[in-house]
Amino acid sequence: MKLVQITDTHISHLGGSPSSNAARFVAFINELEPDVVVHTGDVTILDPDEDRDRVTAKEILAGIDAPLHVLPGNHDVGEPGDDPFGDRPVTSARVAAFRNHFGIDRFVDIVDGWAVVGFNSELFESGLPEEAEQWAWIETLPEQVGPRPAVVFTHKPVRAHAPEHQNTHLSIGPGALPRLEAVLARLDVRAYGSGHLHHYALTERDGAAVVSAPSTAFVHRGAVSADVVGPGLAQLGVVEYELGDRVLPSFRAPLDIVEPEFLEVEQARIALDALGVTL
Ligand SMILES: [Fe+2]
Ligand SMILES: [Fe+2]
Repeated sequence: MKLVQITDTHISHLGGSPSSNAARFVAFINELEPDVVVHTGDVTILDPDEDRDRVTAKEILAGIDAPLHVLPGNHDVGEPGDDPFGDRPVTSARVAAFRNHFGIDRFVDIVDGWAVVGFNSELFESGLPEEAEQWAWIETLPEQVGPRPAVVFTHKPVRAHAPEHQNTHLSIGPGALPRLEAVLARLDVRAYGSGHLHHYALTERDGAAVVSAPSTAFVHRGAVSADVVGPGLAQLGVVEYELGDRVLPSFRAPLDIVEPEFLEVEQARIALDALGVTL
């Protein structure tokens, strides 16, 4: 079975390199002929209240031939915690706006004997009714998945690369982690895939592959230290998973893409200004 993970497309209705790169990667993914595609969030450029970005993103992603599941990132629905980016906390209205365009923000898809699982990392520790609903659903995962091998996708990684960075900016919050780990321990998880960190990294935990997937929009070479996000490959790409007797994740990218730093993207600077954020 072949699965492709795309993430952090950061598409803007204003166009520019994030949108043209996303369109290029859509064509590239179709050449890979996956059985299923998972987008792990930050679909849109920065502002969870800019509906025009969602409309453009949905149009571009509609070019993917395989069945597609889309999860939200912090730039799609806001984020939990005391100090959310751009003063945009996750809210019920923002989650509803995402679902309106991309469907429900959690899924179990059985593909060729594998359980492909995804859920919304931005709800943990939010206190929203949607968090309670998601927990109730998560508790049913052992029953839904059964003994099948599973791959688990979220926008932010389940675990930060070091315990001191386990916080709602970088991963699932430390308060939610033990409860989530108790459920995951009852599944046969063979791989975890996340986005958010804008780099490719492949590590291992308890026999499962742990993949941090690269963005298709921009890289953070200098802005975020390896100390915070861990070591990784700061290039644009997608991740192809061959799922058989063993899990084989691979970084994949076409040669003809533009690979800017975050602040080199004009549409990102415009979106930052609109949010009132100064970096
Ligand atoms: Fe991102
Ligand atoms: Fe993110």
